[in-house]
Amino acid sequence: MAIDYQERIPNNVDLAENRTLQRALEHWQPRFLDWWRGMGPSDFLAADVYLRTATSVDAKGWASYGMTKMPDYRWGIFLADQVPDRKIGFGDHFGEPVWQQVPGEFRADLRRLIVTQGDTEPASVEQQRLLGQTCPSLYDLRNLFQVNVEEGRHLWAMVYLLHAYFGRDGREEAEGLLERHSGDRNKPRILSTFNEPIDDWMSFFCFTYFTDRDGKYQLKMLAESGFDPLSRTCRFMLTEEAHHMFVGETGLGRVIKRALEVMEEIKSSDPAAVRRAGAIDLPLVQKYINFWFSSAQDLFGSDTSTNAANYFANGLKGRPDEDNYADHLAKDATYEIEEVLEDGTIKTVSIPLRNAMNVVARRAYVKDCDIGVQRWNRIIKKAGVDFEIKLPSERFRRTVGVYAGHAFTPEGKPIEAHEWEARKYEWIPSPEDRAFVKGLMHQVIEPGKMAGWIAPPDRGINNLAVDYEYVRL
Ligand SMILES: [Fe+2]
Ligand SMILES: [Fe+2]
Repeated sequence: MAIDYQERIPNNVDLAENRTLQRALEHWQPRFLDWWRGMGPSDFLAADVYLRTATSVDAKGWASYGMTKMPDYRWGIFLADQVPDRKIGFGDHFGEPVWQQVPGEFRADLRRLIVTQGDTEPASVEQQRLLGQTCPSLYDLRNLFQVNVEEGRHLWAMVYLLHAYFGRDGREEAEGLLERHSGDRNKPRILSTFNEPIDDWMSFFCFTYFTDRDGKYQLKMLAESGFDPLSRTCRFMLTEEAHHMFVGETGLGRVIKRALEVMEEIKSSDPAAVRRAGAIDLPLVQKYINFWFSSAQDLFGSDTSTNAANYFANGLKGRPDEDNYADHLAKDATYEIEEVLEDGTIKTVSIPLRNAMNVVARRAYVKDCDIGVQRWNRIIKKAGVDFEIKLPSERFRRTVGVYAGHAFTPEGKPIEAHEWEARKYEWIPSPEDRAFVKGLMHQVIEPGKMAGWIAPPDRGINNLAVDYEYVRL
């Protein structure tokens, strides 16, 4: 179905046919815009930005590009096309027709899944709101805003489900999504990672690479859902999400490239010398990766989880790429996870597979993270530099699950708490490291010009030149 742009709220869900729902969403819309003006990107409300807008859910040509002021962005509601005769693909209801309405017995669980996902979308916009003040180029500024407006649209996607399928409490939850704020002492966002400010571009690139990728995996799992409107919503969100991770992967790649260029110029790989020359040394890139990778892994939840088992059993949330598995019931199967004993030793235990779904998803995520790491390592190798980026062990710096409360090195070796305290800044950014990175962050807004700590991208957006004026201030 084509998207109706004549509507106040662009949509492909026949909103005009449902006046009550349409009115409820039109009532929410100005509140969303108030939120965007108050909590969205600072300083750039009047700027023209070269943005991509979803115009159809057709895989071949789903977006159009053009200059838009962000508050005029056409945030809309788009569901991927319905798959005819779609059946539930896993769990106890395997093979039954998918649900077009919320089954009463799963109402509370589904609402919780949707609210938790929905809460992360505006949270990230809030976390990133000051980044425009220190953008390394207009190209990067535009990418930041593209990510931001699409996270705003993902909020719309979840709010639509709440309004359309959950009645009064759904509408209240939709209000709550605009009332909680990242880092707010009294009304924080639901997940702790989404309350940490992202106030430098290294953190932004790590966030889009690692945290948005967690988002990708959550969406993949929800795209498997037996609740069909949720599945269709998430399938379309995944199309947009790919660009966010592209921003992270190429962003970190360009930081690495610039470090290598500087090392060549100054004929030294001494991190202090690289810093004096205004670039971010490779060991510091590794520290940022250690920090963000470990915090993103926590988003998958506990290693053993009855919630995850129930979501799977009930057909609410499957495994990422459920089709790739042979056994969709996972009824008697077991899965090996680790357990940390009182004395700190680690033992492998077998638990029911359904209870281990968080780990199954997390490990698929780790593999996906490693693809970009290998690409970065190829850049480093090509420059003839002997340095390898590595993802830390899944045990490293965890605050959720079996490893929480225990200390490990990035290689996964158990250490005492005092050793962690003494050595942690060998592995994650120290206050000095962060201050150094912050010191590099100055706004560069001349078309085509890049800050000294980052290499230009290989190509521009949508076949435009790198020096195109992507944001007109
Ligand atoms: Fe998103
Ligand atoms: Fe995203």
